[in-house]
Amino acid sequence: MYLKTLKALALVATAFAAATPAGAQPAPKLKVGLMLPATGTFAALGTAIENGFRLYIDEHGGKLSGREIEFVKVDDESDPAKATDNVNKLIKRDNVDVLVGTVHSGVAMAMAKVAKDTGTLLIVPNAGADAVTGAMCAPNIFRSSFSNWQPGYAMGEVMAKKHYKNVVTITWKYAAGDESVRGFKEAFEKSGGKVVKELSLPFPNVEFQALLTEIAAAKPDAVYTFFAGGGAVKFVKDYAAAGLKKTIPLYGAGFLTDGTLDAQGADAEGLQTTLHYADGLGTPRDNAFRLAYAKTYKLQPDVYAVQGYDAAQMLAVGLAAVKGDIAKKAEFEAALGKATIDSPRGKFTISRSHNPVQDIYLRQVSGKENKLIGVASKSLADPGRGCRM
Ligand code: BEZ
Repeated sequence: MYLKTLKALALVATAFAAATPAGAQPAPKLKVGLMLPATGTFAALGTAIENGFRLYIDEHGGKLSGREIEFVKVDDESDPAKATDNVNKLIKRDNVDVLVGTVHSGVAMAMAKVAKDTGTLLIVPNAGADAVTGAMCAPNIFRSSFSNWQPGYAMGEVMAKKHYKNVVTITWKYAAGDESVRGFKEAFEKSGGKVVKELSLPFPNVEFQALLTEIAAAKPDAVYTFFAGGGAVKFVKDYAAAGLKKTIPLYGAGFLTDGTLDAQGADAEGLQTTLHYADGLGTPRDNAFRLAYAKTYKLQPDVYAVQGYDAAQMLAVGLAAVKGDIAKKAEFEAALGKATIDSPRGKFTISRSHNPVQDIYLRQVSGKENKLIGVASKSLADPGRGCRM
């Protein structure tokens, strides 16, 4: 009996020695700087991104390529004026190894500038600013989400096929709104439609009344819009309350109804939008993700959660290629450039300018879901205008 126990102990010791060679230090923690909004109109979007990111890390035992993940967090308040200071704190004070952020395009452009200047790896898990994977592109900057151009362009094609001729657009006056409308207009006017009026208000204002009166007076065939988060909730409710939902069909980039349906209720019913995620995809990959997310957070995931999850997946792919040594930048970047990411949204690749090449879905609100209707644009690649790499 005693001999048996000794033998068993010796076996365990041999196995352990093989796994952790004598004297070897555990790999140092990998510091992830999460720069996301925790307050303001995009607060819920920030939470969903962080949830998705953490879910992937937790599914891998809290480690990627043997390195335990440590988080340092900053609430960026979706305020571009504070962005450079915030990102500099993460890089210089906290010495993060990688930056993950953010939601707001203006804040993301400030992050991209600092990332480019310092060579810090940046993965953008939402903000669609075209320039991030356009004129500001860099080998160390990647996006797990979309460019503002993508859902807008896809909806321009959809609405042209529906034979609308005159459309009014309405959005916030900042990069995301401007670029979403530009993408829409490019596709819509190419197919013979006309954007007859471009309405906007400053971010994050939600005083829509005067603009809704202008829409009623213009009597367009339809309206295209970009709003997100708390602003999208108020816009959809105000549009219906003004009586416009019954007379002038409302369309948008899918942020209009993603993560917002509980608050929008019946006012969102039937709205059609374009986005790189939808409810009811029904693939094994998406089903497993949705189940895990719902179990962990007692919530249904939305597009922001998927983008956070995929930001972590992209980090994992790059780290695996360099066996955890993030200092090997060229190899890290090359691996991601060649990768296919097995996302809950469907598999995607990464363009030359580091933006997802992905299907854009047409969805329609039914109850509490953005139900899949079909693929509006297959494997849509952002043109990456101005990117020199
Ligand atoms: C943006 O600022 O790029 C953005 C914000 C919320 C949803 C989508 C895009």
